Amino acid sequence: MPAIERIANFKIVGHLGKGGMGDVYKAIQEPLGRTVALKLLADQASANDEAIARFETEARAIARLNHNNIVSLYEFGQENGIHFFAMQFVDGTTLDSILQKKKTLPVYIVMDFAKQICRGLLYAHRQGIIHRDIKPHNILITRDGTCLISDFGIAQIARENRITMTGIAVGTPEYMSPEQAKGEDLDHQTDIYSLGVLLYEMLTGNPPFTGKNPVSVAYNQVHSQPLPPSTHCDEIPKRLELIILKALKKDRKDRYKSIEGMLNDLDTVIVDEKSNLFDSLIKKEPEEPDNRITDRRNDDRRKDSRRGGAGSGSFDLMSTEFWAETFRDQWLSLILILVLYIYLIFIK
Ligand SMILES: Nc1ncnc2c1ncn2[C@@H]1O[C@H](COP(=O)(O)OP(=O)(O)OP(=O)(O)O)[C@@H](O)[C@H]1O
Ligand SMILES: [Mg+2]
Repeated sequence: MPAIERIANFKIVGHLGKGGMGDVYKAIQEPLGRTVALKLLADQASANDEAIARFETEARAIARLNHNNIVSLYEFGQENGIHFFAMQFVDGTTLDSILQKKKTLPVYIVMDFAKQICRGLLYAHRQGIIHRDIKPHNILITRDGTCLISDFGIAQIARENRITMTGIAVGTPEYMSPEQAKGEDLDHQTDIYSLGVLLYEMLTGNPPFTGKNPVSVAYNQVHSQPLPPSTHCDEIPKRLELIILKALKKDRKDRYKSIEGMLNDLDTVIVDEKSNLFDSLIKKEPEEPDNRITDRRNDDRRKDSRRGGAGSGSFDLMSTEFWAETFRDQWLSLILILVLYIYLIFIK
């Protein structure tokens, strides 16, 4: 049982986990009876008054974020000197625990997760909110495979705390953008870089830069070029590799300017779906036997037109999309048939 049984109007009923800033508990918000995840800041994290004050300024905007792919912030307060955050309780696991078990994920799952995270980030960026700490620990995944980004703005408190204590921005350097590693001012493009790292890791099993020494990892974020993901895994579609490498550009001028651009490019990647290797970790809803990467949540802009093309289960011979798709996928066969036809009709 947790040492604390209650804080403000939250009754603690279980322990969910521990992070860099303190413990996270499952709690019941009274009198609503709503289940929440309650993050209590450890003394050390609470000590940085400036960082907390800065968070308070942003908390109002963060609490207004309401999106399927973002963990909602319900309340932020303090009692007896303990700062707490009450957040939407997510019944699932973290992407980090999945990667600990699976190491890498199938391309179509990576695509699905990538698009969901993009949608959450796109929404937040449009409200002027940057996450600043996109990493597998901050991506929660429900049993039906929905990704929710957690700790919007909160992680900054821990980061500022570490900077105050050590003078340098060490924390989780594997996911830091070059500008973050250099301690520069951040904009929304920092999240694009970190998302690039996340995709790289989901596909290859490791972030592009790793090492025991956080300073050397941070140095590599600024100065070293990542190896193309295909050097670790040859099943990665070329287009997806290019998207990841563009997200990982050191210079913000070369990187995606917005998450929207990245999402649009992700929409153009065509993936062969395989059997759901992931069933043991994330159960797709049984009534959705076709568990390809198309995501109908959030009014996904991708329509199934591509499915009408070659290689799909159903098709419409009268549709131009079918022929365009067939030509794109089967152009070599079509040209060979045409050559054979010309040979038989005109030459023979
Ligand atoms: N909203 C939530 N719903 C359910 N469980 C959660 C929620 N938020 C966090 N948890 C659980 O609590 C654990 C600790 O979360 P926390 O955010 O404190 O850790 P972290 O992300 O690893 O570190 P940090 O955010 O401090 O860098 C998570 O691994 C997860 O298991
Ligand atoms: Mg976290």
